[in-house]
Amino acid sequence: MEQYAIKGGTPLVGEVEIGGAKNAALPILAAAIMTDDTVHVDNVPDVRDVNVLLDAMQSIGVIVKREERHKVTINAAGISSLVVDDDNIRRIRASYYLIGAMLGKYKNAEVTLPGGCDIGCRGIDQHIKGFRALGANVSLEHGMIITKTEKLSGAHIYMDLVSVGATINVMMAASMAEGKTIIENAAKEPHVVDVANFLNSMGANIKGAGTDVIRIKGVSKFHGTDYTIIPDQIEAGTFMFAAAITHGDVTVKNVIPKHLESISAKLNEIGCEVMEEDDCVRVVASKPLHHTHVKTLPYPGFPTDMQPQITVALGLASGTSIVTESIFENRFKYVDELTRMGADIKVESSTAIIDGVKRYTGADITAPDLRAGAALVLAMLAADGFSTIDEIKYIQRGYEDFHLKLKKLGAEIELVESEKDVTRFKMKIV
Ligand code: UD1
Repeated sequence: MEQYAIKGGTPLVGEVEIGGAKNAALPILAAAIMTDDTVHVDNVPDVRDVNVLLDAMQSIGVIVKREERHKVTINAAGISSLVVDDDNIRRIRASYYLIGAMLGKYKNAEVTLPGGCDIGCRGIDQHIKGFRALGANVSLEHGMIITKTEKLSGAHIYMDLVSVGATINVMMAASMAEGKTIIENAAKEPHVVDVANFLNSMGANIKGAGTDVIRIKGVSKFHGTDYTIIPDQIEAGTFMFAAAITHGDVTVKNVIPKHLESISAKLNEIGCEVMEEDDCVRVVASKPLHHTHVKTLPYPGFPTDMQPQITVALGLASGTSIVTESIFENRFKYVDELTRMGADIKVESSTAIIDGVKRYTGADITAPDLRAGAALVLAMLAADGFSTIDEIKYIQRGYEDFHLKLKKLGAEIELVESEKDVTRFKMKIV
């Protein structure tokens, strides 16, 4: 089984190129089936979740070509089925974006429900509420979500909670409904805006994305487009925290600094220097880290997908820090693993109380989920001695070439497949 073998203790120094946003790419690629014309999408990250979605799209007759590693062409004119029941698609949360896309274009969709309960029970009631408000019949049968209608009609929809997925899904369906839709209490994440821009580039009429009220005038037909996905805010943030945790000096390139403000602010608070330029951010961590408090919140608040990374940093900061998770109820599972590496953290329901320690020590552990897996790698890069982390398929779901990018920054990390490889890695490093 693939693992990363790591020898900690080297400060990361240098430049890293950030890829396209996974959480924008998933809905954008799904929405590309809403036209019979060809759609060209650039800056598509080559990560597992995206590839699973593209495979599922091919399984219903969509023609998908990876022209280059990050350029994908999609043509859905020959779609042969509106039923997506692929074993793999169940493993990715974003499978539900095919529902909004197919319901909008074909007024009919059957998609396997997203499974997995890795970071908390992730409801889809707001998606369903939105689809029903637009006039669709929605039922859940045999693990599938089935939506059908003669026509979709614009509606005034108030989201009971701020949901990225529900906002995007309902926005996609409503963009091909008859008449006007207003989505209130909408999510404001940069990827919500990116999806709206993409839909508009295909002929949709969506205004207000990025605020909490989105106004949509439905249109009957979309056309082809050529679109470039925004940089990944979370990949960028992970490398920014990698600089902090290893006391390094890292420039993350090809980013939109505005999207990183909450992350930069926390890095400043804990004693790092953050320098912004047009499309890059440099993080220098020359001083000891100090404590702070942070609560995850919808954008523009501190992202829940950066919660494990900041917790790993605060585990090495002087004093007591408090991290409160307000989006997912079960997102501190990785803390047990971090404790095995020497961290002093107590979790009480949605709050982690962290007493900073001087150092972590290497350990052999398992990645519990995508972001926690990446954060544990960062802990290992700062730890004394050797570590291994398995189940790295979780990390590969959302990070392209993670170990190669880290290696380029000076990290002693190797992708290994056996105990022999681990021994060889240790011999090489010592
Ligand atoms: C997306 C991101 C994920 C990120 C999250 C929050 C993708 C593929 N995933 O997930 O990386 O952590 O946004 O920024 O883009 N909820 C309901 N009912 C619903 C919808 C959501 O109760 O109908 C709850 C969820 O259980 C969760 C919270 O609302 O507690 C936020 O979920 P949401 O914003 O929808 O996250 P996702 O779109 O699943």
